[in-house]
This record gives sequence, structure tokens and C-alpha cells, in this order.
Amino acid sequence: MIPAIKWDQGVLSLLDQRLLPHETKYVTCTDHRQMAKAIKDMVVRGAPAIGISGGYGLALAAIESTMEFGCGNGNRDALAAAEQFLREAASSLIAARPTAVNLAWAVERVLNTALSSLGKDGIRCAAEAALSEARSIELEDIEVNHKIGINGAALIKPGSSIMTHCNAGALATGGWGTALGVIRQAWSENKVAMVYANETRPFLQGARLTAWELVQDGIDVTLLVDSAAGYLMSLGKIDAVIVGADRIAANGDVANKIGTYTLACLCRQHDIPFYVAAPVSTFDLSLACGREIHVEERSESEVLEFMGKAVAPAGAKALNPSFDITPGTLVSAIITENGTVFPPIEENLAGVVKRG
Ligand code: MRU
Repeated sequence: MIPAIKWDQGVLSLLDQRLLPHETKYVTCTDHRQMAKAIKDMVVRGAPAIGISGGYGLALAAIESTMEFGCGNGNRDALAAAEQFLREAASSLIAARPTAVNLAWAVERVLNTALSSLGKDGIRCAAEAALSEARSIELEDIEVNHKIGINGAALIKPGSSIMTHCNAGALATGGWGTALGVIRQAWSENKVAMVYANETRPFLQGARLTAWELVQDGIDVTLLVDSAAGYLMSLGKIDAVIVGADRIAANGDVANKIGTYTLACLCRQHDIPFYVAAPVSTFDLSLACGREIHVEERSESEVLEFMGKAVAPAGAKALNPSFDITPGTLVSAIITENGTVFPPIEENLAGVVKRG
């Protein structure tokens, strides 16, 4: 698999996911502002992948602060200025994509590491500590995905046709994937007959990214327009739906790519299991329910245009919420690296996610 995120000697390269599947080109970021822009513009996307990128973005800010304020040893003004610079950089990175909590989680984790080192050992040590923390987040994520894959594959019956939505694969994570990690693991256990990937309007993560990943792996994939999902289910062609998540509230409500809620309702209607695969870092237990989740709205042009060409008359308006909220009551199980949470999800969450 081509890596979505690469760090090499002070430069973070992001595989430009806007160009896939036609071109594999990298965009380079050498400061935190470039990183925030790349996250906002969807060069990199997917909750865990933007978390990893945000972590490296804060590490870049810490490196920038060594150039701006020197080593800072014994200079209280320089240390205070570096701290303010890092806090502002963290805020701008977190604001780039507001729904996926993994971004705030990773940026704050690197920020806290940098700040505790800053007070003790100065700016240069803070930058080294920040970079090492960002690297750890990336490496941990790959391991976490493999555990999610193993836990999730245990739920898949042999001969299953599985539907997925958006891209929760290697491109959306440090590698392997959450929902696609489960599918990859189940495929390796010969349990998967077919993967149905919804194309995922308007950004086409399903068509451009999920289909691309699965074709590369030699996993059978059939692409569907999003609105075909219900019909396929009514024909008895879908045995399970597995999606990723961008944020999960304390009661099990799940924010994920727009269209996910529709699939969960359809699964309830057709008695099909609806699984969510996500790392523990995607839970936000500070929120009681999904109504408190900030749903990002993206530009109208993503809906009104297709590959730069208008597909609607001038003067038409578009609404483009990028995510929706699926009530936890529609979720058959949430698969995490620490184990699988079954209903009642709110009560059973405590077994895998610790309250901070
Ligand atoms: O807008 P995107 O492409 O960042 O949205 C991504 C999704 O909604 C994914 O399904 C989610 O982040 C889970 S990724 C492992």
C-alpha cells in the first residue's frame, strides 16, 4: 500500500487524495500553516489520518518555534512566546476539520507533550519531544487498526457480502484501516464474498479511494451509487454494513460521512447488522449525545460542480453537510481495539473506553 503520510527530515509528505485514483502525487508541508491548509482542503482526510497529520503539524510548529525563539533556556519571555505560538498553532490545526475528534485528540496530545518539555528543558527539547509523540501516534494507529480488524472479523459470517461507505481504509488511517481493516482481515479468513462500496457523493471517497484500495489488494469490490443501497438490501444481497466514524458521543451516537444514518435506518428495516469500526481515540465522552457534535458543512461547489464543471443551473443553491449523526440505538456493535461494544452501547462503553 502506498503510504498516505510520510515524515522525512523535517518534511511531511501527504499523498494528495484529491488526485486518486488517477495520479499518485505527494504534497509537502514544512510548516503548520501548510498542514492546516492541506487538512482543510482534503489532501489528507479520514479521522485517524487527519489526527496523525495534525500531530505532525504541531511538531512542525514546535520546530518553527526553535527558529523563531531560539533554544529559550533561561529566557522566560522566549518560553512564554513559544508557548503562545504552539497554542495558536494547535487551535488553527484543530479548526481545519471540526467534526473528526481524532484531530483535536492528536494535536492536544502533542501539544501537552511539547508544553511539559518546554517548561523543563527549553524549546529545542520541546520540538524533539513533539516529533517523537507525533511518530508514536502514527505507529500506534497502525497497531490499533490491526486489532480492530481482528475483533471485527470475528463478527463476519463466512460467505458475507459487506457494504461500506466513504473510505475508512489505509488512506484514512496510519495504515490498514478501520472498517476496511475488518474487511481485509475477514477477506484473509475467506469470509467475504463481495464488498459493495457506496460511491459517497459528493467527494467520491468510496469510488475513488475505497475501490482503489480494494482493487490494489485483489479484494472483490462492486461500486454502487449511494441511492442503490436500499434496493440491494431489499434483494437480500447485503449481509452486513461496516463503516468508520469521525466522533462517537457518550450515548453511542456516531458522526460519520453523510449517508451513514440513511444506511443505519435501512439496516434496521431489513434486519441487517450495522457495525461501526473505530479506535478509542474517536470517542468523545465529553459529549452526552450526537446533537452536541459540530457537523462540518463544506462548500456548495462540491455539490453544484463535478470535476470543476457545473452540474446544476447557475442560481441553484446547495447544502453540503459533510457528516450525519446515527443514533447509537441503530448500531449493532462498535468495534474498537479494546474489544467490541454491543447494545446497550451507552452502558457497555465503559468496558472499552475510559472516561478522562
Ligand atoms: O470527509 P472525510 O473523507 O474526512 O470523511 C471520512 C469519513 O467519514 C470516514 O468514514 C471516517 O473518518 C472514518 S475513517 C477511518
